[in-house]
Amino acid sequence: MSNFFVRLLSSMFAFSLIMSGSSVASAATSDTLVVYFSATGNTRAMATTISSALGADRYEIVPLEPYSEEDLNYHNESCRANSEQKDPALRPKLKALDADLTRYKTVILAYPLWWAEEPRIIDTFVESYDFSGKTVVPVCTSGGSGIEKSIENIKKNIRGKPSFKDGNRFSSHVTADEFKSWYDSL
Ligand SMILES: Cc1cc2nc3c(=O)[nH]c(=O)nc-3n(C[C@H](O)[C@H](O)[C@H](O)COP(=O)(O)O)c2cc1C
Repeated sequence: MSNFFVRLLSSMFAFSLIMSGSSVASAATSDTLVVYFSATGNTRAMATTISSALGADRYEIVPLEPYSEEDLNYHNESCRANSEQKDPALRPKLKALDADLTRYKTVILAYPLWWAEEPRIIDTFVESYDFSGKTVVPVCTSGGSGIEKSIENIKKNIRGKPSFKDGNRFSSHVTADEFKSWYDSL
């Protein structure tokens, strides 16, 4: 084989090593986790946009007992979601307790608003893990209500007294650029 081909092959090999090394490194060095709960898909869409905008990892809060359409029918006063929201002490069970928060400095906590508050399962989550030393950024989707009351509740309930950055309500159609410019302004 000529010298030229030997050099070409070795530089291609080195290039592929660098490429695979850098993608592994960026996944392993992300210090931001997007934790989200979504019952009908809107917050999931927002969380997906946020994690790609920031190159952040994502963790879904999954209830042990999934919410059916009837559970979420807020026109029915006694539907499951309404009953849960009426009781601030209620804590729906999580399907798993396997979020590894230790690797992350910042947790972006994403949820829908139910009766202008966080779904109670968000309280289950923030009481189940130790957030000491972390920064929490609450974000929500909603039909129009603001995030304020939910932040107040989460601050009361969260374990480990993390610091908070101002939260915000977003449309589930928020773009990566819109989110990034808000996030960079915090
Ligand atoms: C039980 C229930 C209560 C809700 N209450 C409110 C509310 O008080 N204000 C509001 O703007 N939207 C409210 N919504 C609408 C949701 O916040 C909105 O559709 C959200 O984007 C749903 O997110 P998800 O698809 O991730 O579950 C409520 C929805 C449900 C199911």
